[in-house]
Amino acid sequence: MGTNKIGKGYANGKIILLGEHSVVYHQPSIAIPFPAAQINVTVTQQNEPTTIHCDFYHGLLDEMPELLESLKATIQTCLERLGQPDACLTITIESQIPAERGMGSSAAVAVATTRALYDFFDYDLNQADLLAIVDISEKIAHGNPSGLDALMTSSSIPYYYIKGQPFEPINLKLTAYLVVADTGITGQTREAVQSIAAKLTSADGANYQEKINTLGKLASDGRKALESNKPILLGKLMTKVHTLLTELDVSNDALNRLVTTALNEGALGAKLTGGGRGGCMIALASNQSDALNIAAALEAAGAKNTWLYQMNGDTHE
Ligand code: MEV
Repeated sequence: MGTNKIGKGYANGKIILLGEHSVVYHQPSIAIPFPAAQINVTVTQQNEPTTIHCDFYHGLLDEMPELLESLKATIQTCLERLGQPDACLTITIESQIPAERGMGSSAAVAVATTRALYDFFDYDLNQADLLAIVDISEKIAHGNPSGLDALMTSSSIPYYYIKGQPFEPINLKLTAYLVVADTGITGQTREAVQSIAAKLTSADGANYQEKINTLGKLASDGRKALESNKPILLGKLMTKVHTLLTELDVSNDALNRLVTTALNEGALGAKLTGGGRGGCMIALASNQSDALNIAAALEAAGAKNTWLYQMNGDTHE
């Protein structure tokens, strides 16, 4: 193998429209790939033991060493499967996806790294193997992953997903805009997932289970809204989901402030997206001009970054 060879892999960010957290408990969910924020990985050969360059994790690893552990597990799993356990490589990861913001960065790192390693060694990689490899690292990063992040960061179309069942492509008919806003606060998906698990086994567990079931029902209603172009219905479902996620204690003040700001500015609905307790929120707008006004109001209310996502169209930062 020539020493100048380069392996390349990429992954999209993801946005969960409906069903975060409840998807862990086999309830329906809907998510879309988010190509406005991507991860790119390159792999080259070197003479020293493998080194990883991933600057965007700096500052996070003291609090979340599992992010690096999960990345190392991805690399080790791939090299073993590729029959190259002792390969000496330089693995460089460049990310536009802010880490731990509910945009699927840990799954995207694993997807892009796996693709780059398979590309480097000229091996075909099917979707089932990719998802199985990413699941190993997501278990380290997030404890009990549903598989939704792995699916969405490796896809290019929206999916309806129930853990353990085949994923179903959404026949997207909705024409509307999503505004995505980053609180700038690191969310901790692992902690949020664990806190819901603890609630479900508490004395009040049946009450929390009811909320999880309702979240699933709202996601399956959301599919109908997306497949029959009913933005007002989708907006209402999103806001209901935010209320339930707040009751499950995975929102926070910054997310609630941005959700209220978006609704006051005329959004059809708004909610946190992903693990919560920081990270990102999304708001639904009927048209581009409303979306721009909502994005401006969110930035004035403290959002660190906003993106516009045209359902059935392009994405702009
Ligand atoms: C995290 O992006 C989404 C959660 O539903 C966890 C999971 O699906 O594994 C909170």
